[in-house]
Amino acid sequence: MIEASAPGKLYLAGEYAVVEAGYPAVIIAVNQYLFVQLEQAEAGSVYSTQQPELEVLWSRLGNQICAESSNPYRLIISSMQVVEDYVRAVGVAADGLYRLEIRSDLDDEQSGIKYGLGSSGAVTVAVVKVLLAYYRQEVTPMLVYKLAVLAQLKIGMVGSFGDLAASSFGGMVAYYSVDRHWLKTEMASLSILELTVQDWKDLAIQELELPAGLDVLVGWTGTAASTDQLVTSIQAQLNQEEKDAVHRRFLQENRICLEQLIHACQEDDGRRVREAIALNRQQLQDLSVGMGMVIETPSLLRLSQLAVKEGAVAKSSGAGGGDCGICIVDSPAQKERIARAWEGAGIVPLPLAIAYRE
Ligand code: PMV
Ligand code: MG
Repeated sequence: MIEASAPGKLYLAGEYAVVEAGYPAVIIAVNQYLFVQLEQAEAGSVYSTQQPELEVLWSRLGNQICAESSNPYRLIISSMQVVEDYVRAVGVAADGLYRLEIRSDLDDEQSGIKYGLGSSGAVTVAVVKVLLAYYRQEVTPMLVYKLAVLAQLKIGMVGSFGDLAASSFGGMVAYYSVDRHWLKTEMASLSILELTVQDWKDLAIQELELPAGLDVLVGWTGTAASTDQLVTSIQAQLNQEEKDAVHRRFLQENRICLEQLIHACQEDDGRRVREAIALNRQQLQDLSVGMGMVIETPSLLRLSQLAVKEGAVAKSSGAGGGDCGICIVDSPAQKERIARAWEGAGIVPLPLAIAYRE
């Protein structure tokens, strides 16, 4: 039996801007994981402990993996297909059958509600990793990231793929998003091997660390949000001149802010990290007002206010509209005070830390 895992993620800054090619975000991997076990079997199947009554069977038609048409594991099947295409291209036979079992700690155990820690990114990354290991390939973070992106693009998933970078690399990353339109065109003409070895347009992933003495504290609002809906609602408004101008200004200011944040991390400058986070929060608030949408819900607003009251900085994380907020604290005592204040306001402090790659 082979097992692989992938950490969940949270955006520290740069969300929404990073959807545009080449714009940066800073994202952390968190120490809550999704696990995939692979066992050789008589028949191919996929099973998730979240749907214990369901075992989806798959088989191969030539080199194509086929599963029952209406199953919830399209992303998993796509990830399997991409890795099998890749290993065949490097000369490995991919013809055995196996059973994948998925177990996730990224959702609330009792209610099944998603915390918004990137379970679809983590499942993609974990499936890519377990299959690369099964086919005895070296599992490097960049290869895992690229194969995971290809698996998601093939089934038309939207977004920046920043979650895939964080789950593949672990720790904290500065992620400059790949130009997905360019990548789609390349996918039509290049082999999978060529795609994985060449540099991708606009993509850069740099490993970062929080300045010494700083720590993150994550609060869960208790409500799940749909990233796809929020991102789509922005994209849909860009044909309106006024909204397009708001968005363009947001992108410009965001890049400057994110570059300051990234430099501050590289220079171990905690004060400038805190300034950049506070500024990025303001930029997201301005974007949401300008676009007529809600990123910082009342609960996320409260989360930030309570953190600010204790002298920390905080903001919504990711698409907002629910899910989690993230706070940068500068002492264990401050962290504790904010966690207590959140609890008093119905915000759940999650016991998360940055998960560095082993
Ligand atoms: O809400 P999350 O954690 O899934 O983050 C979404 C971040 C966006 O920039 C809004 C979308 C994306 O794909 O990057
Ligand atoms: Mg979210």
